[in-house]
Amino acid sequence: MTLETATAFRNIPRVGLGTNRLRHTAENVAFIRAAVDAGIRMVDTAHLYTHGESEKTIGDALSPVPKDCIVATKGGYGGAGRGRPEVLREEIEQSLASLRTNRIELYYLHRVDPETPIELSLGTIKEYVERGQIRHVGISEVTVAQIEQARRVLPIVAVQNNYSLAERRHDAVVDYCASNSLVFVPFFPLAGADSSRVRTIAARHRATPVQIALAWLLRRSPAMLPIPGTLSLAHVKENLGAMSIALSDEEFESLR
Ligand SMILES: NC(=O)c1ccc[n+]([C@@H]2O[C@H](COP(=O)([O-])OP(=O)(O)OC[C@H]3O[C@@H](n4cnc5c(N)ncnc54)[C@H](OP(=O)(O)O)[C@@H]3O)[C@@H](O)[C@H]2O)c1
Repeated sequence: MTLETATAFRNIPRVGLGTNRLRHTAENVAFIRAAVDAGIRMVDTAHLYTHGESEKTIGDALSPVPKDCIVATKGGYGGAGRGRPEVLREEIEQSLASLRTNRIELYYLHRVDPETPIELSLGTIKEYVERGQIRHVGISEVTVAQIEQARRVLPIVAVQNNYSLAERRHDAVVDYCASNSLVFVPFFPLAGADSSRVRTIAARHRATPVQIALAWLLRRSPAMLPIPGTLSLAHVKENLGAMSIALSDEEFESLR
């Protein structure tokens, strides 16, 4: 099951990998390589994660990044002032170095800075796009109005918001992404997987509740590309397996 609607990442498998607990160890370098061998093609990190260890691990594991694989990172997290041009420039330079690359395939503004105009933050990221050091740009935890504001500054290909069976606050953003050929990347995608209704459906499909939660997201919108975080190769394979599960209309609606 590959992404068909989004223009930028057409044909990549629709389950990725979140890495916000990844420490810089030899074991985790091997884990990232094994995850890609198992079929992961979207590896999600951020400047912030594990104080830079996540990016360094991915840099060690995937340099050069395999041709059909996307490593996405983010910067500008932490509240007022973190979206200022000088802060973002420093973080982007560090991400390029840690990831051991000349070009970041997908770079998100991690949060809209409440004190820095979004135009200024994204204008800084745009400098790197124009220099060829960032290929695609995304934004995180945003409303439809903010996405539209961002798209007036530069093309946006991905939106990463909190969304799951248990958290539907961003339904309008999901639908906006599908209508505008953007990828919607839900973070915390496994929330709600522990309900009795999910467990019943899982038993029927001989699947795990986590796989049903992911299958529900994939069915919710063709723009959806969840990035469950895990440090376990067995869980990576299980999560990828969710792409083979087809929920019936009745099952989908009963979880809605
Ligand atoms: N944009 C943002 O602001 C933002 C905010 C938060 C997170 N994120 C991103 O979103 C990613 C996903 O968030 P997350 O909440 O899923 O990550 P997380 O914080 O790593 O938590 C996922 C949890 O689910 C478990 N898990 C994963 N697959 C499983 C499976 N098949 N069966 C049972 N347990 C499983 C993991 O444990 P195991 O390690 O044992 O598998 C872990 O405890 C993060 O890694 C990060 O990249 C983005």
